[in-house]
Amino acid sequence: MFKKIFCFVLLSFVARGVLAEDIHLPEPNKTGKVTLMQALEDRHSDREFVERDVDELTLATLLWAAYGVNREDGKRTIQTAMDKKDLAVYVFNKDGIWLYDADNNLLKQISDQNQLSLFQKQDYMQAVPVVLVYTGSTADYAAMHAGSAYQNVELFAAANGMASIVRGFFDQEKVAEALKLPEGQRVIISQAIGWKQ
Ligand SMILES: Cc1cc2nc3c(=O)[nH]c(=O)nc-3n(C[C@H](O)[C@H](O)[C@H](O)COP(=O)(O)O)c2cc1C
Repeated sequence: MFKKIFCFVLLSFVARGVLAEDIHLPEPNKTGKVTLMQALEDRHSDREFVERDVDELTLATLLWAAYGVNREDGKRTIQTAMDKKDLAVYVFNKDGIWLYDADNNLLKQISDQNQLSLFQKQDYMQAVPVVLVYTGSTADYAAMHAGSAYQNVELFAAANGMASIVRGFFDQEKVAEALKLPEGQRVIISQAIGWKQ
């Protein structure tokens, strides 16, 4: 009987293409003592990281800074042309690849494989625990929206003692393949985030 139930559950997961589990993120922590002016003063690109994971609360908060919902009507922490929510934010970490679902404060699993090596073209990337990848439509304003989102993350990093750097030096085609991006969508830019030396 147990075997039958196990097989049924397994088959239904495979049939739906479900890999493992989506992650319900904790509520972002919106408190903080650092002023915007201090964060602007401290913002810089980091090229030295220590090997340390990013916990779920920190991840939830930095994703919220990037592209989270900050109003009841579903609008975001960044402004978007014609209110088009045409940006997508993916998280690469040692457990796989995830798509940030801001409306539900959820990470949807895309892969259960560690694919951080796709970004390791520069030595300092070896110790980076999280890479964000911004994708969007090939036309319109998606790249500008990515710029707003990565700037929010850099300011968050500056205000929270984290290390971060925006990166265009990686194989965008391979990353697009890993993400199984639909037609008309492209990889715009990536951003490494973790902890300072
Ligand atoms: C769109 C973009 C792409 C970048 N790509 C890389 C990269 O691939 N590798 C890297 O080490 N730095 C990269 N950088 C970081 C810049 O080199 C860095 O912002 C610049 O040197 C200024 O330093 P600062 O950010 O500390 O002010 C990138 C920055 C931007 C905005």
